[in-house]
Amino acid sequence: MPHSAADSTSFPRGFTWGAATAAYQIEGASQEGGRGPSIWDTFCQQPGAVERGESGEVAADHYHRWQQDVGLMADLGIGAYRFSIAWSRILPDGRGKVNAAGFDFYSRLVDALLERGIEPYITLYHWDLPQALQERGGWAARDTAHHFADYAHQVGSRLGDRVSRWITHNEPYVVAFPGHLTGDLAPGLRDSAVALRVVHHLLLSHGLAVEALRDVVARPKVGITLNLSPIYPASDLEVDHQAALWRDGIFNRLFLDPVLRGRYPEDVAAKYGALLRAVQAGDMERIATPLDFLGVNYYTRSVVRHDPAVPILESTQIRPEGNEYSDMWEIYPPGLHELLVRLKSDYAPVDLYITENGIPVPDTLDADGRVRDPRRIRYLRDHVLQVERAIADGVPVRGYFVWSLLDNFEWAFGYRMRFGLVYVDWGTQDRTVKDSGRWYARLVGDPPSTLHPGVGGTDLT
Ligand code: FCB
Repeated sequence: MPHSAADSTSFPRGFTWGAATAAYQIEGASQEGGRGPSIWDTFCQQPGAVERGESGEVAADHYHRWQQDVGLMADLGIGAYRFSIAWSRILPDGRGKVNAAGFDFYSRLVDALLERGIEPYITLYHWDLPQALQERGGWAARDTAHHFADYAHQVGSRLGDRVSRWITHNEPYVVAFPGHLTGDLAPGLRDSAVALRVVHHLLLSHGLAVEALRDVVARPKVGITLNLSPIYPASDLEVDHQAALWRDGIFNRLFLDPVLRGRYPEDVAAKYGALLRAVQAGDMERIATPLDFLGVNYYTRSVVRHDPAVPILESTQIRPEGNEYSDMWEIYPPGLHELLVRLKSDYAPVDLYITENGIPVPDTLDADGRVRDPRRIRYLRDHVLQVERAIADGVPVRGYFVWSLLDNFEWAFGYRMRFGLVYVDWGTQDRTVKDSGRWYARLVGDPPSTLHPGVGGTDLT
């Protein structure tokens, strides 16, 4: 039931307000509890791969501090927690022998969340392939998709009595291209043909995992999380228009079309036989197994200029002058509304969740113990308002998760980028709720008065 018009908000009652994290970014304890190494442990050891040679070895030490972290969420009134499972904690070699201590860790976490009334949303793969599987070919090997389904089955059998929300993959685009084409992220490969094969195997593994989860989870609600952005041409030139369309194919449609329509986009498939050669009979039907929801990660838009020298993408991203930027990306809230409306009209999908949205801010702890981050509050508010607009336009958005609950290990940027609602002191591991965390607690408690000054006042400090 929507709030009444007088509330000036179209967030339905029962809308999910959450926060998100990922295993390698927060857990630390990389060599404890029987965990096997993942490709991120290996990647971080390569000179120059991560700023300042940092790694997730300790991260936010969540493996030891999870009770405190659950308590923080409960205090903020957060209703749902999206976290990922480290595959190599469950299966240290990626397949075969199961590590009971790994299950115990996640099982206790799930119980603690449920006790505090916080719904767990589990992501099975947030980029940390067991190193042992990388050594057998990684995602370029079709077998990895089957190992992933076995892992999904194992986890679903152990936690599926209590957890109904499952996300197979986080951002397969990033795994395939920054991981295997530009080499910016683990496993750090640079090979176009491999990257395209990886796309297909990731999607296939998604389909297989959906089936595996539905076999064992009591009340399964299964989805996938894609990183999606509207793409704009850098100029009125025809080549730039074409470049934007093509990039939309690689960035957005290459993942949306197979999952929601059961086929690869024609323009991409026509150009890349390597992708199609990986397809076997029955794969596309598997990949398109109907989902319960689609997860959307939105941070920014892309503005692109034609550049044939760039493999596969054939364009470079430009940063238009005069716009607002964070330390990573352009800040462009209307892109979220545009994207959501497009998803509804082009794909008429099932329920949508914003599974990540957030901004890096170089936060500091002030002398009075407060972390003042009005920039993050403004970013979150402006994006939540776009979600609200989309809902008013009939887009079935059912939830919103802030990236991130905690400051954490931001991949190749290391610890420089702070995304948390909660500040983490990297020396002591002390946690401090930022002003944005308090703001989010108010929003979760009462969206209309927090979002609309006319109703209750928006306080950005
Ligand atoms: C997304 C990732 C997440 C985090 C944010 C900033 O692409 O899913 O782990 O790094 O970006």
